[in-house]
Amino acid sequence: MTTPDSPAGLPGFSTRALHAGQDADPATGAVVTPIYQVSTYKQDGVGGLRTGLGTGYEYSRSGNPTRTSLEVQLAALEQGDAAYAFASGLAAEDAVLRALLVPGDHVVIPNDAYGGTYRLVKKVFEPWGVEHTPADLADLDAVRDAVRPGSTRLVWLETPTNPLLTVGDIAAIAEIAHAAGALLVVDNTFATPYLQTPLLLGADLVVHSTTKYAGGHSDVVGGAVVVRDGDDGRGGTLTARIAFHQNAMGAVPGPFDSWLVQRGLKTLAVRMERHCDNAERVVEFLQSHPRVTKVLYPGLPGFRNHDVAARQMRRFGGMISFRTASVEDALSVCRGTELFTLGESLGGVESLVEHPGRMTHASVAGSLLEVPDDLVRLSVGLEDADDLVADLASALG
Ligand SMILES: Cc1ncc(COP(=O)(O)O)c(C=O)c1O
Repeated sequence: MTTPDSPAGLPGFSTRALHAGQDADPATGAVVTPIYQVSTYKQDGVGGLRTGLGTGYEYSRSGNPTRTSLEVQLAALEQGDAAYAFASGLAAEDAVLRALLVPGDHVVIPNDAYGGTYRLVKKVFEPWGVEHTPADLADLDAVRDAVRPGSTRLVWLETPTNPLLTVGDIAAIAEIAHAAGALLVVDNTFATPYLQTPLLLGADLVVHSTTKYAGGHSDVVGGAVVVRDGDDGRGGTLTARIAFHQNAMGAVPGPFDSWLVQRGLKTLAVRMERHCDNAERVVEFLQSHPRVTKVLYPGLPGFRNHDVAARQMRRFGGMISFRTASVEDALSVCRGTELFTLGESLGGVESLVEHPGRMTHASVAGSLLEVPDDLVRLSVGLEDADDLVADLASALG
């Protein structure tokens, strides 16, 4: 079965979302992967592990059938060789950084990366001797200038970025990174594998905060790393390296959280289509509003790198940021909405509004990555578009 969104001749996206890693439970026939709420497993003789989903289970930090089922599903959606689930997006990022870097190595990161990513690189890895250069990853010359052949081990790309929606060219940056001997990691949290598949464009690893669109219902915190296998540059393979660190560091999700993310992923395609439909309506409204000075949305023809987004994304997603005339205006919008709930996070079924400067990105205040204080970020949910537009109209006055 081949569909347009399955270039490798795989079943379609939703078919994979519903079936990959989710055969009926061998013990009971349950059609939904059970929540294996268990820490240890009976061994049939010393070292005699029972296999399920292709792996033997001994202890749930090392492996748990519910988590394995999610990992197989995630790998199938991103079209990677293997996926590894984590307890949060930042735990996934930390695992990638610790697995692939040693003191003296250098990383290029976006100059508008998610604040938590920047904080991790700056406050945790810099003291351990890992150097970083924030660069404008929307500008290929800036990426070329930032990489240091021989010492840059990773280029970290987030596209679109949180909260400025900056778009980077995955294929072109992969080429630059590889030419310098570095690996490319893409944070695919905003786009999701439904809208964008970085591993097919040359990226080596994808990271996710599955807390967001993957989970999709604002009820779980999780993360993931998906890998296109290859040389890890230190005499081993990328999959073996990430797998080792997942177990050695132990920041794994529990069975129930794994199950929630898996359930969310089953409906990712239909949710993303509706997120995109609603976002397009909201963008149209915001663009016509006199109190909105600028709308940031990769789908807008005038938006920087719109052509790149159109090439590498199926549609442009459910996240919108916009600028107002002043910080007071931005705060008054955040205070004034009713349907758009004031809150951090994003990618859930319900719409959220926030002030990045004082909320999600407060940790980068005063740094190179500080965001404008007149900025408002919207996570456009699945409510009726007319109601969302009416809510914003009332908040904007
Ligand atoms: C783009 C992006 N990456 C990573 C993270 C971190 O994920 P988590 O909050 O699940 O640790 C976030 C969180 O907002 C994010 O927006």
